[in-house]
Amino acid sequence: MKGIVLAGGSGTRLSPITLAMSKQLMPVYDKPMIYYPITTLLISGIKEILIITTPKDLNTFKELLGDGSALGCSFQYAAQKDPNGLAEAFLIGRTFIGGDSVALILGDNLFYGSGLSELLQSNSDPEGGVVFGYHVNNPGRYGVVDFNKQGKVISIEEKPHKPKSNYAVPGIYFYDNTVIEKVKHIRPSRRGELEITDINKAYLDEDQLQVSILDKGIAWLDTGTFGSLMQASQFVQVIEERQGLKIGSIEEAAYKMGYISKKELHGLAQPLLKSGYGEYLMQLD
Ligand code: TTP
Repeated sequence: MKGIVLAGGSGTRLSPITLAMSKQLMPVYDKPMIYYPITTLLISGIKEILIITTPKDLNTFKELLGDGSALGCSFQYAAQKDPNGLAEAFLIGRTFIGGDSVALILGDNLFYGSGLSELLQSNSDPEGGVVFGYHVNNPGRYGVVDFNKQGKVISIEEKPHKPKSNYAVPGIYFYDNTVIEKVKHIRPSRRGELEITDINKAYLDEDQLQVSILDKGIAWLDTGTFGSLMQASQFVQVIEERQGLKIGSIEEAAYKMGYISKKELHGLAQPLLKSGYGEYLMQLD
């Protein structure tokens, strides 16, 4: 399975911070925001990743992340000229996806918790599409999914006034290869974007959309506003200081998944020693 991180967008809810810099390069406590979604893909078992960002930010992301070989992975890059919507990722990434299935994750979504890796891995290489469901207090702000006991989706609605369930759809989606065909048939919405909800509806029309529940032991945070960015930083700081374990370390994820050896991990740690990040990597078993 291939992976795409969508890290473009305009970040208007974070201006003026985002006037000159991509949202996904902002710190969430002790690392750049994009480390978190990349870690989520790595622990899903995905090593081939396409990072889509704006033409302006592309080189900065390359400087930060390189070609992925240091992590035993492959990172490629593509530009999204304008923020034309999440589903445009499958048009931009169609050559990269080739004949494979694909996971899309939003560059400002953070997932953490027990059982996450197993849950994600069990849904990789899906037949049809898999969206995730997360119980929230205020589902009307999100895509909302309603489903039956077998996990088959009954309806999926974008920002509904009267949500049919409390389950919001977080920014990670797994699709089989037919997503490339499906995206060709959707049209921009009233807000002028190619909507991910329309891709999900295309799977739903074929009775091919499953929902997988992220249980309450898993944290899902997004970081698109001043408040949520600060909360995410505080969340990461509290957990990391209490447990002595890091959230969203791409080097640790690559090591734990067996993509790199301990020697390679120690090599990555060397330039990071002064901040304490490198020391953390050095003491991993
Ligand atoms: P949003 O938070 O919906 O949009 P945004 O990042 O442009 O921010 P704002 O609402 O403040 O203007 O985007 C969710 C994620 O998807 C975020 O990581 C940016 C990314 N994105 C793209 O890469 N391309 C797009 O066309 C859109 C709509 C979003």
